[in-house]
Parts: sequence; C-alpha cells; structure tokens
Amino acid sequence: MKNVSRDGGSGLTRRGFIGTGGAVVAGLAAGPSFAQEKADALAVKGGPKAVTFPPAQVSALTRWPRFGEAEKKRLHELIDSNKFYHELPMLEDEWKRYTGSPFVKAHMNGSSALTSMYFALDLPPGSEVMVPSYTFFSACLAMRFFGLVPVFVDIDPKTACFDLEDAKRKLTPQVRAVEVMHSWGMPCELDRIGEWAREKGLILLEDMAHAHGASMQGRKVGTWGAMAITSFQASKVMPAVEGGMGMYQTREYYERAAAFGHYEDPERFPDDSPVRPYAGTGFGQKYRMHPFAAAVAREQLKGLDELNARVEKNVRAMNDRLTQLPGLAEPRLRPDQKRVYYHANMLLVDSKKAGFSRGAMMKALKAEGVRVHAWDYPEQHKLKIYSEAKWWHHAPRIPESMPGNAEVNAGHLFLPLVYGEAPELIGQVVKAFEKVWAHREEMASL
Ligand SMILES: Cc1ncc(COP(=O)(O)O)c(C=O)c1O
Repeated sequence: MKNVSRDGGSGLTRRGFIGTGGAVVAGLAAGPSFAQEKADALAVKGGPKAVTFPPAQVSALTRWPRFGEAEKKRLHELIDSNKFYHELPMLEDEWKRYTGSPFVKAHMNGSSALTSMYFALDLPPGSEVMVPSYTFFSACLAMRFFGLVPVFVDIDPKTACFDLEDAKRKLTPQVRAVEVMHSWGMPCELDRIGEWAREKGLILLEDMAHAHGASMQGRKVGTWGAMAITSFQASKVMPAVEGGMGMYQTREYYERAAAFGHYEDPERFPDDSPVRPYAGTGFGQKYRMHPFAAAVAREQLKGLDELNARVEKNVRAMNDRLTQLPGLAEPRLRPDQKRVYYHANMLLVDSKKAGFSRGAMMKALKAEGVRVHAWDYPEQHKLKIYSEAKWWHHAPRIPESMPGNAEVNAGHLFLPLVYGEAPELIGQVVKAFEKVWAHREEMASL
C-alpha cells in the first residue's frame, strides 16, 4: 500500500499545499482548483448535490456481504453430496495454508473461538488478561468462565489499535496475557507489543476478527500471537454469515482449545495428549461450525485477496485526495504493515484543523449525497457487567477515562467501502468533500 503521510490529514509541505486546492480551502492563497466547488451553493443550503450517482447503483456497489453464484453452487453441491462434515477439515486446511498457522480449528463463531482460547490458556483463576476496552464484548467476557479478569487498555487515537504505552502503565503482577485487536483491519504493532510481552513473560493473543488478510512484515496477523481468533460473521471481511476460527502456534494450545467444544477431536490426538482422555465429552460445549457456513467461507477465501486489493484501490483513489483537506486523516500505518478494510473506510477528523465540527461536516456531506456515518464502538469498561464484582473472580478495575477510545469515537467518519469499479462515484464523493471544505466559513456556523 502506498504509504501516504497522515500528518494532520494534510501530509504536504506548505509549498506542496499551496500548489493544490488545499490552499484555497485553507484560505492561504487564491487558486483555481476549487472555484466551481465554491461557486456551487452547499446542498444543505439548497444548492445542487455533488453526488448524483444513482442511489440503487451506490447500494449495489457498497452492498455487504457479497455472495454470488459460486456460493450458491457450493451449497447445492454440498446438500446433494450428503457429506456435510467434510467441509470443516477442508476449510481448516485452506485457512492454515492461507495464514501460515501451524494449527487451526474451525468454531461456530468468533465468540466460541475466544472462549476456547481462554480455556486453552489454562491460567490460574484470578489471572488477568489485558484487552482493549474498544472491542467486542465476547473478547472480554468469555474469559470470565475461567476466572480470568480483564485489564482494560486504551487505544492509540492515531491508529484505533492497542496502545502499548497505556498497557505498560496498567501492568499488574496478575497480568499473564495480552490480547490485541486489529481494529477495522489495521494491524496492531505486533513487533513492539510482542517484544514487550516476551520481556514481561506475557502470552500474546490476537483477535483478528476485523483483519482477514492483513499482515505485518509479510507475516499474516493471527500468527504473531501464541493463539488468535477470527470471525466469519456476516459483516466481516470474509463472511460466512456465522463462523469462526482459532489459530494456534503450539500443539498444546490447539488440542486444548479444540477439545473444549469439539467432543470428537480428542480421540484423534496423539496418546500423550493431556486432553485425549476427554474423547466423547470434550469439556461441555459443542462449538462445531455449521458446514454450510464452512462451504461459504471456503468460497469467500478464494476471492479474499482479490477483494481486499479492489477495496484498497478504491480507498486509495478516495483517500489520497480526501487526506489533503485540512483536518482529515487516515489511521496511521507503518510501511511494514499491510492493512485491510473492515466495515468502512474510517477517516479521523480534527475539527480544529478543519475549522468546523464533525456534526456540521456530516450534515453537509449527507446533504451532498455522501453516505457518511459515525458509530461509537462500544467501550467495554463502561458496560454494566464489568462494574458488578459478583460476575468475576475479582472486580475488574474500571478506568476513569480512556482518552484514546473517546477521541476515536468522537472524531471519526465512516465512508462505505466500494467493492466494484466506480471511478465516477468516487470522484463525486471527493468533489462533495472538496465542496464542503471550500465553504469552510459557512460550515463553521452550520
Ligand atoms: C473484534 C471482534 N472480536 C470477536 C467477535 C466475535 O465474533 P462472532 O460474532 O463471530 O462471535 C467480533 C464480532 O463482531 C468482533 O468484532
């Protein structure tokens, strides 16, 4: 991926900035670039909309999940074959090859993969696990069943990912593991976090439910931690409607995680496996992935890299221009990180630099026909269950504030991902932003 500078959303020297339309919006110099945008009244004030692309076509280009003939054919074939369960080892083999994981196990969803992972940890009750508060509930709650307690860590507002400096401040003698989450497809800094974890004797875990296909230094996310999970739920980058996968670096973790919710697995394990005696029962759960979902996942995996590349190309066409507008930036990415895009194209907003509020921005952009939205990702530490000691081995500490979470939630925009060829639509969306920015003075009073 082209490593555009994300410095304050501009990434340009003053000289470069004056040479672009950015100079006009910032009022630094007169220039021709945004003359038309400035002349056109804002749609929110009754002017013409910048996005005139037919709404039905926008919906078709941004629709998710995207299943087609291949999935339908596979499902029909599977039903006719009557050999449903063969799908699961085939998906596992393919996922193993794709990610380079030595051991994997398909689970019925990401949450059951998480539960199995916490069981596999086999830590004494009262052990603590560092997790971002900016995550999905099961990443923090599933550990409860094994007496583990979350220590909530903030996110870095420039990446929306695990903030190592905050983790360092919050380390306690009870912490035994660190679980990171690759928010919206952005890899966490796995090298730095991993090094710190090793130095402190902590087990690194990864939640890559947002990041199918992302990598760092050429190594797929999900293979840096001792264990990792992902989800194939309908909204995810590789959807199968429901489904999940665990990835394990050691045979011990794999066997224990698989035995938890897969009663038939232990009999296939070597004689010396500590969980082999639990063949026929496992440990009380049944977490098998539905074979129909596995069939869909296998088809989706075939097209995953191509889809990620198409999405990235469209994001670049949009963001290379949008990030030249003052106050708009992408999450910061290192050159050795390869991200993917989950859910949306997230932009970070600095209202001071833009000169107007995010609310005004969204109102004006929506009026221009841009499908922009914002969504506060749940902050786990604020939810009721963590404040009640009765559910936990010991009460989780509830941080007074999480400035990183707050900044990202209050300061982002989500734009729909475009999955097809649509230069015209992308051009119109860019024009809409440039038009709104060209009316910065008016925007301040919107
Ligand atoms: C970060 C994260 N982890 C775990 C999960 C759990 O996955 P599932 O919905 O398949 O249980 C999700 C699901 O949304 C998620 O977003």
